[in-house]
Amino acid sequence: MVTTSSVVAWLQKLNDVYAENKGYLTDLDSAIGDADHGINMARGFAKVAEALEQQAPEDIGAACKTTSMTLIKTVGGASGPLYGTFFLKASMQATGKAELDAQGLLNLLEAGADGVVARGKAELEDKTMVDALLPAIEAMKAAVDQGVGPMLTAGVEAAEKGMKATIPLVARKGRASYLGERSKDHQDPGATSTHLMLKAALETLAG
Ligand SMILES: Nc1ncnc2c1ncn2[C@@H]1O[C@H](COP(=O)(O)OP(=O)(O)OP(=O)(O)O)[C@@H](O)[C@H]1O
Ligand SMILES: [Mg+2]
Repeated sequence: MVTTSSVVAWLQKLNDVYAENKGYLTDLDSAIGDADHGINMARGFAKVAEALEQQAPEDIGAACKTTSMTLIKTVGGASGPLYGTFFLKASMQATGKAELDAQGLLNLLEAGADGVVARGKAELEDKTMVDALLPAIEAMKAAVDQGVGPMLTAGVEAAEKGMKATIPLVARKGRASYLGERSKDHQDPGATSTHLMLKAALETLAG
């Protein structure tokens, strides 16, 4: 079972993960963007960690809602509103809930992913975070009957594959799309931060 405290541990861990990967994500974004993705994610989740510490969320929905509001408020650019939307839609699947089983967690993550697609209008192979997110949801659907751990393991594997598959793509959305063919041969920063997000979920929610 996924509990409120494990979800808080996940969100807190994202602060550590993005702090550690700030340089890596920013390097990726310097190749095809404006070199701020690591800075954006690290700043956003530092504020999220602060907000969750200031007020312990009552349930999983509240934890995701605080995350959403904080990201929207503190992270500009494309990724702030997109991850903000992810957690807003996710929160709506867990209003008043202190526990989720694998299906409940999948519903939460799927609602978040659908929110990102609705907001950013990116399709598969546009070279965005969607290329990590949507294959992960599909893989998790196929593994949901095996429980939270195996489901998240499948999701992380699919996200990693999707992330790596962005390397040869030409970007069709966001700042990287201005580069056209020159966006080839670089891994998408947002797909990379999404893979890290799911990896942290596996490490904190599966226990
Ligand atoms: N329409 C979109 N849908 C989904 N993901 C997107 C979209 N546009 C950009 N992204 C993702 O956002 C990532 C870049 O995030 P970042 O934090 O660097 O914002 P940004 O593009 O620099 O924003 P801005 O151009 O406003 O400064 C990309 O690597 C891509 O994965
Ligand atoms: Mg950027």
